[in-house]
Amino acid sequence: MKIGVLGYGVVGKGVDLLLQKNRDLIARKTGFAPEVNAVLCLETSEDERFCNDIEDFMARDFTVVAEAMGGVEPAFTYVKRCLEAGHSVVTSNKALICDRGAELFAIARANRVGLYYEASVGGVIPVIKTLRDNLAQDDVHTVAGILNGTTNYIFSVMLPEDGSEGISLDAAIRRAQELGYAEADPAADVEGHDAARKIAIIASLLTGCQVGLSDVDVRGILDITEEDVAVCKSVGYKIKLIAEAKIDGTAVSARVRPMFVAPTHPLYHIDGVTNAVVTESDMAGEIMLTGAGAGRFPTASAVVSDIVYALASDYASEADCDLPRACRHRDFGWSEKSADKLAADASKTRYICSVRSPLPDCRELAKAGRETIVLTEPLTEEELKAHETVYGIRWCRAALV
Ligand code: HSE
Repeated sequence: MKIGVLGYGVVGKGVDLLLQKNRDLIARKTGFAPEVNAVLCLETSEDERFCNDIEDFMARDFTVVAEAMGGVEPAFTYVKRCLEAGHSVVTSNKALICDRGAELFAIARANRVGLYYEASVGGVIPVIKTLRDNLAQDDVHTVAGILNGTTNYIFSVMLPEDGSEGISLDAAIRRAQELGYAEADPAADVEGHDAARKIAIIASLLTGCQVGLSDVDVRGILDITEEDVAVCKSVGYKIKLIAEAKIDGTAVSARVRPMFVAPTHPLYHIDGVTNAVVTESDMAGEIMLTGAGAGRFPTASAVVSDIVYALASDYASEADCDLPRACRHRDFGWSEKSADKLAADASKTRYICSVRSPLPDCRELAKAGRETIVLTEPLTEEELKAHETVYGIRWCRAALV
């Protein structure tokens, strides 16, 4: 089966190399032998599969298209054209799916093709397939995770687990860029917008409604201070950028913020560029998925898994494939209707605070001069505010225990 690739950067080239290396293995395991037959990119190349012009690309012979250009435009225009021309599309582009997903799903629906986006969230982790397929029968009410590899890598090298001296934030960002983890503009990583787009995609999938970047309460990592680092070390926690969504039917409350994570929490052990997602649902209970959240081959692996899924779901006939047909195309997208907002008290959080006099029901973690570091019971933001002056809260961070 022939595959068109839009973009030949870290991910697009990764898809091509992966399919060259593992094509026979994929054929043996799935019955499909996908190969890249057309590439649209800015580079000029001797390779006859490459072209610079979308008209030239559309004239080539391919079935499924993998979009790995990043950014909303021109990716939106090109993906729309591919869907309208009857090609199912697989994408790793979270900006595209978060910002324009509902429109593209409607176009895919009208043209009876599929739009798949596993690689847009959590790198190689099969979070979309798990939520969409494996948990289709469950009421998933909470998803929390580490969805940005760059910031998790940054915290790991700034605060090494062995207690050794860490490197500065700037040096850590540069290293993440060199390793191909960070976005071209790392502001999206460190300001939390990359993780926010990913949790918005998850919330859209779970509610069936559009949840955009502006629906997520986002705080990045740039205001982490030396005091945060010192308190974190003194109480034996780690700092992680946590993305969370609480869902109730079509209502959602989503946020991204740095949190102090206790050694008892499963996300405490997720270091480096690794991502992890914990889902909680009524029947399955808690599921944790973890794996590389960024990088060429992990992301390409997620793209190729969607390519095989699209071939099986949207195109397979007995003539194409010896295996039984997996399924016919189902509608995996969401509508343009906005999600409702979940009431504030559905989002209670524990906090680590530096206080003059301990709050009711709090747990003392350490002494800091005349102040005490405590862990509170779960509170709403309003309840926390009400405590601020009464108990002399000077410094405070959300915590996961
Ligand atoms: N910059 C992103 C990250 C890449 O660090 O997670 C994968 O989406």
